Amino acid sequence: MTKYVINGGRTLNGEVTISGAKNAAVAIVPAALLADGPVRIENVPKIIDVTLQMEIMRELGAQIRLRGATTVEIQNTSSPSLKPHELERKLRASYYLLGVLLGKYGFAEVAMPGGCNFGGVRPIDQHVKGFEALGAKVTLPEGGYIRAEAPPEGLHGARIYFDVVSVGATMNIMLAAVLAKGQTVMENCAKEPHIVDLANFLNAMGADVKGAGTDVIKIRGVERLRGGVYSIIPDQIEAGTFMAAVAACGGSVLIKNVIPKHLECITNKLKEMNVEITDFDDSVLIRREGRLIRTNFKTMPYPGFPTDMQPQLTTALCLAEGTSIVTEGVWDSRFRYTDELIRMGANIRVDGKRAVVEGVEALRGTAVRAHDLRAGAAMVIAGLAAGGVTEVEQVQNIERGYETLVEKFVALGADMYRADIPESMGLPRKD
Ligand code: EPU
Repeated sequence: MTKYVINGGRTLNGEVTISGAKNAAVAIVPAALLADGPVRIENVPKIIDVTLQMEIMRELGAQIRLRGATTVEIQNTSSPSLKPHELERKLRASYYLLGVLLGKYGFAEVAMPGGCNFGGVRPIDQHVKGFEALGAKVTLPEGGYIRAEAPPEGLHGARIYFDVVSVGATMNIMLAAVLAKGQTVMENCAKEPHIVDLANFLNAMGADVKGAGTDVIKIRGVERLRGGVYSIIPDQIEAGTFMAAVAACGGSVLIKNVIPKHLECITNKLKEMNVEITDFDDSVLIRREGRLIRTNFKTMPYPGFPTDMQPQLTTALCLAEGTSIVTEGVWDSRFRYTDELIRMGANIRVDGKRAVVEGVEALRGTAVRAHDLRAGAAMVIAGLAAGGVTEVEQVQNIERGYETLVEKFVALGADMYRADIPESMGLPRKD
């Protein structure tokens, strides 16, 4: 078991370079299986979720070679007789294999996905609705699997209206439809930067996807995808996490390898909170000197404020002057981490999808848990800003989605390190 030990209370200063986007990579890497030729993907983040995705693909027979620190070459030699794998249960994004394998071979059976659990079941009804519209038969055989099977003549284009705006369903149906016969029109699509990135990747391989980044995406099926070279966009949420950390701790940091446009929803909120932000072509300079000021925010699909930044910004607001109201508009429940912040001295009341945060002067270090990926990032920010020592446990949840987070914060002047601890020395509390 590994934990992070943080000696908090230092300001952050210097430069940090953002890695490739996790939520783009977990779709683009498996999407390489759709291509017949070799695919070279650059700016791939070194995180557990992507490593797991590649392990599953290797088990399916794909040849994957690492070329340098962040480039992978993938040649699909997988077979159409594919069996589900236990690794999939550890990874929410394993559901993208359904779209990929169904689109490529007309058959897919995948273990029901894992990933962060925000307190309730994470539904996939919109994925199923989309696959069925393309002509697939979707069943849930015993053992926690999901099976999708195309008719003998293959998948066909369809018109699909999503009942909820879903990143995963938009991407999964795109993956299944690029090789289907005819035109697919998807309405009420998610518009996140990673949706556009996946469409750009598929188009670079020879697909015909139009409208990604708007509500309506049109896909004209093509016979085959060729190989090619593609570079994944920078991670909006990793960048936002460093911005929230500077807001909470104070200091001045140049955040490099970002697309400032993707960060607008975050920068606008931080500016309201008395944080100074200057945009450059592919970097942003963030500075905070005076006390943070309260604000309200509600999470929404892009271009709204991202739910994946909610815990990090709420943590900064714990130290702001005044009362802030945070409303979670995407997930039913994503405030479990606030109990940990309260143990660090924060004043937060949660009522369903709403949290009322009364700013306090300071947080104090203690032992806390990273219940999920972004909750973990919030614990690190709280620990960096708090007085005394914070020990963050269950950091495997953080390392699912952040590349070398400890090294990056240490380079900015943070006093923190990873420590291996025996299982028996973990926090005594029960989940
Ligand atoms: N939903 C349905 N039916 C579906 C799918 C989703 O009702 O079939 C609902 C969900 O319950 C939720 C909302 O729609 O209330 C949005 O879910 P979405 O499908 O957009 O989420 P996802 O694709 O499962 C991705 C990210 C999440 C991020 C959400 C929202 C990946 C691998 N995960 O999840 O990222 O919170 O979009 O932006 O791309 C994270 O990175 O920490 C993370 C959890």
